[in-house]
Amino acid sequence: MNLMTEILNAIRDTKGYLLLLKDTGVEEINVTSLSQRHTKERENVDRMEHKLQQLQSLREKIGDCKRCKLWKGRTNIVFGTGNPDSPLMFVGEGPGEEEDRRGKPFVGKAGELLTKMIEAMGLVRDDVYIANVVKCRPPNNRNPEEDEIAACKPFLDEQINIIKPKVICALGTFASQTLLETKTKISELRGKVHEKGGNRIAPTFHPAYLLRNQQQKGLAWKDLQLVMKELGLKRVFT
Ligand code: URA
Repeated sequence: MNLMTEILNAIRDTKGYLLLLKDTGVEEINVTSLSQRHTKERENVDRMEHKLQQLQSLREKIGDCKRCKLWKGRTNIVFGTGNPDSPLMFVGEGPGEEEDRRGKPFVGKAGELLTKMIEAMGLVRDDVYIANVVKCRPPNNRNPEEDEIAACKPFLDEQINIIKPKVICALGTFASQTLLETKTKISELRGKVHEKGGNRIAPTFHPAYLLRNQQQKGLAWKDLQLVMKELGLKRVFT
């Protein structure tokens, strides 16, 4: 078969297929060309790579940080992990013992619960970005102090600026109060999505608190459902 015959056959087959679709009630078909799809995918990859580079530069800027006293007790700076182009970012308080040892956020007991919370939303950890208000472990897991938060906050702000998530889920008192610049209690802040400095912020209880107060898990789930609504996510129960 020569090329011309092949082309004519392909046209005839396509016409037959379109007529069949028409007979079955299809009035319009939306065709995104392969090249359009390829361009979109290329743009996504480029944007992701650019954000990754920006985050790497930020990490380099932080360096072997001694801007506050927390450096004295830390093993590793816990910068953040996850998808740099995610529409959803979780912000915790500060690294605990396990996070300090491994240099990654939320990898201890509270992290296990956070992973379950993310999965309950129909996502996996790699879909989201996770960071903390302070990037070094406070001694004996004490609360971060005001000067420590002030020293570290510009880096969290820059992370948010690079990632540009649609929603930030603030985990617990410190993350919520820091991001919303308020002293209002978490119990009053949670249950709605706040607008602050161009960011949508959804406060909820910290997973470590939920481990000690299991009866509050229902309220946390309500908060996560608000986040899902903001993102247009539907949970598929299997
Ligand atoms: N608690 C936090 O707030 N952040 C972590 O990374 C781990 C525990």
